[in-house]
Amino acid sequence: MPGKTVCFLTRLVPEPGPTLLREGFTEVRGNFQDRRLSRDELLSGVSGVDALYCLLHDTIDAQIMDAAGPRLKVISNMAVGYDNIDVEAATERGVLVTNTPGVLTNATADLAWALILAASRRVAEGDRLMRRGDFHGWGPNMLVGRDVYGKSLGIVGMGRIGQAVARRAAGFDMEVKYINQSGPLPAGTIPQGQEWKYVDNLADLMRESSIVSVHTPLTEETTHLIGRKELELLGPGGILINTARGPIIDESALVEALREGVIAAAGLDVYEQEPEVAPGMCDLENVVLLPHLGSGSSEARGRMAELAVLNAVAAVSGQEVPHPVNPGVA
Ligand code: GLV
Repeated sequence: MPGKTVCFLTRLVPEPGPTLLREGFTEVRGNFQDRRLSRDELLSGVSGVDALYCLLHDTIDAQIMDAAGPRLKVISNMAVGYDNIDVEAATERGVLVTNTPGVLTNATADLAWALILAASRRVAEGDRLMRRGDFHGWGPNMLVGRDVYGKSLGIVGMGRIGQAVARRAAGFDMEVKYINQSGPLPAGTIPQGQEWKYVDNLADLMRESSIVSVHTPLTEETTHLIGRKELELLGPGGILINTARGPIIDESALVEALREGVIAAAGLDVYEQEPEVAPGMCDLENVVLLPHLGSGSSEARGRMAELAVLNAVAAVSGQEVPHPVNPGVA
């Protein structure tokens, strides 16, 4: 059939994703179950498609692109991060890569705050204590945590999500400091009445902050950006939060630092070897662990699913693509 367009979906996504995909493509094939495809299933399934609609847990490299073949025009990732895709290999093959920024900013910032509060005030430890039946009445020394109000918040990466986390800090009267790959934020970006201090190096940010929250993309430069040295600078009262990507933090170094009291606590939503967690992490009380839920509100997930379809359909039909990652590709 002339003009036939085929999209491969790697896993069932929330509505309106599947409905819009069926409207936008002649054929939608792939995985309509809520499970991750194996590498072999992905390799054998993508042959001859125009669009690949994938998720952050799918590794999309040159081999997958070559298995898809010359019709492949777009790899549409239903995520803001795209470190799972070899963008260089896609560009070399003339394949557009797209992502879904913006629509998950507030959901992810909310979750970072859930971790800030939970790690500071020992919320998960308290929940575990209750469920064990160990609450025998109020005690002045029981699960005493740390104030959030009035503390200094250091943000690593002041993009959309970093800024949304910073805006929420105003309600806690916090002093906000940040480092940012592209330098200080342009004048006018910082909300009136708030002062966000640009710091030009990570060591100073760690040293000057009580709570540090990570919001930078994962790249070669940001891999293991935070290790033992940075954790020592954060110090014994410090709290580290990561809702970005696991490998930005040296997770084994973090386990040791939490165990030895080098920092006070941590809140993690992402891990170096997802879904694995570094040995020893789960034995620690002073870390709150979530299973990569940053964008996990029904509103955000619906908007991500929709935006990923809009990107894919626009790329295949030659329209302007809302969120290209490698816009130089024709
Ligand atoms: C979630 O981690 C995303 O990158 O969208």
